[in-house]
Amino acid sequence: MAMHHLQLLTKNKLGKSIVRSFTDAPVKETRFLNLTLKNPVGLGAGFDKNALFLNELEALGFGFVEIGTVTPLPQEGNEQPRLFRLPADKALINRMGFNNDGVDIVARRLEEWRTKKAGSQEKYPLIIGGNIGKNKITPNENAWQDYAACFTRLHPFVDYFVVNVSSPNTPGLRALQDKDALRKILLNLAMINNGKAFAKPILLKIAPDLTREQVDDVISLALEIQLDGLVATNTTIDRSNLSTPLSEIEAIGAGGLSGRPVQQKSTAIVKYITEQTDGAIPIIASGGIFTAADAKEKLEAGASLIQIWTGFIYEGPTIVKHICNHL
Ligand SMILES: Cc1cc2nc3c(=O)[nH]c(=O)nc-3n(C[C@H](O)[C@H](O)[C@H](O)COP(=O)(O)O)c2cc1C
Repeated sequence: MAMHHLQLLTKNKLGKSIVRSFTDAPVKETRFLNLTLKNPVGLGAGFDKNALFLNELEALGFGFVEIGTVTPLPQEGNEQPRLFRLPADKALINRMGFNNDGVDIVARRLEEWRTKKAGSQEKYPLIIGGNIGKNKITPNENAWQDYAACFTRLHPFVDYFVVNVSSPNTPGLRALQDKDALRKILLNLAMINNGKAFAKPILLKIAPDLTREQVDDVISLALEIQLDGLVATNTTIDRSNLSTPLSEIEAIGAGGLSGRPVQQKSTAIVKYITEQTDGAIPIIASGGIFTAADAKEKLEAGASLIQIWTGFIYEGPTIVKHICNHL
C-alpha cells in the first residue's frame, strides 16, 4: 500500500479506525531524555522527509517519526532512479541526495500540524524528531551555518534534533564527522539551544563505516560537549558479503546500503559505545531491524529506542504492531 492510499483511508474517522484495527500496537511506554513515548519504535529519517504523512504514520503505531533530512534551501536530490531493492539481501540501496522541500516549507507544515493537534489531550502524542543537514551547494567550511539555520527554524516544532553528517549521498558530508568540524557545528547549536526557553535534545547520527578511532573521537566529543545522544547508524557504503549478484550491484552504482547487511555493524557500534561509556550516552539504534528479535538485539546492546526504515518496506504497515507485541 502506498502512502497516498493510506492518506485517503485515514482522512475520516471510520477510515482511521479501520486502519488502526489492523495496526494498533500495545502501549509500551518509554522514557527517553525528556520525552515520553507510546513505544520505543520509530520511523527513521528519510521516509517522511517533508513531514507530509505524520497522521498516517501515527495511525500505523509509531512512537516517533524522524522527519528530514531537511536542508535550508529546497533541493531536488539526485536524478532518478535513486532507490533500488535487493530482495535477496533484504536490503535497499539509495542515493536520494537530500531531496526535500527546504526548512521553511517543512517548518510551516509542522506548525500547521501542531496547531490542528493543539488541545487534543492525547496521552502519548507522536514524538517528532527533526533530522537536519546541509545543502549540496554549501561548502563544508560553511556547513555549520546550514545546521544552525535548520535548527533555529525547526526549533519550536520538533521534540528532538538529529544532526546528520553521515549520509553517503552528499559529496564530502561524512568528512564533517571529523572531531573539529563536529565540535564547531554542535557547540554552535548548543549555544542557540541555551538561548531558548525550552532546550531541545540534540543527537548526532553516525555512519556504520567509522573506524574504531573515529568512534572513540565521537564518544569523547559527545562526553566533552554533553551531547544528548547518538543515532547509530546510517546506511553503509560497504558492499561485501551480499547475496545479490555482483553484476547487479555494480549496475546500480553509488548509494548507501540499508537493511539486513547493516544490522550487525550497527549493533556492534551500539554495543561498543555502550560498553566504552558504561551506558552514559543515550542511543537510538537504526540498521536492519525487521522483527521484535532484531529490536531486542539493539535494546540489549544498549539502545533506548529503535528506528526502522528498510524493515517497513519489506514487512509492511503492521511492523510496529508486530514488534511491540513481542517486546
Ligand atoms: C531511501 C532512504 C532514504 C534515507 N534518507 C535518509 C535521510 O534523509 N537522512 C538520514 O539521516 N537517514 C536517511 N536514511 C537512513 C535511514 O534513516 C536508516 O538510518 C538506515 O536506512 C538504516 O536503517 P534500516 O536498515 O532500518 O533501513 C535513508 C534510508 C533510505 C533507505
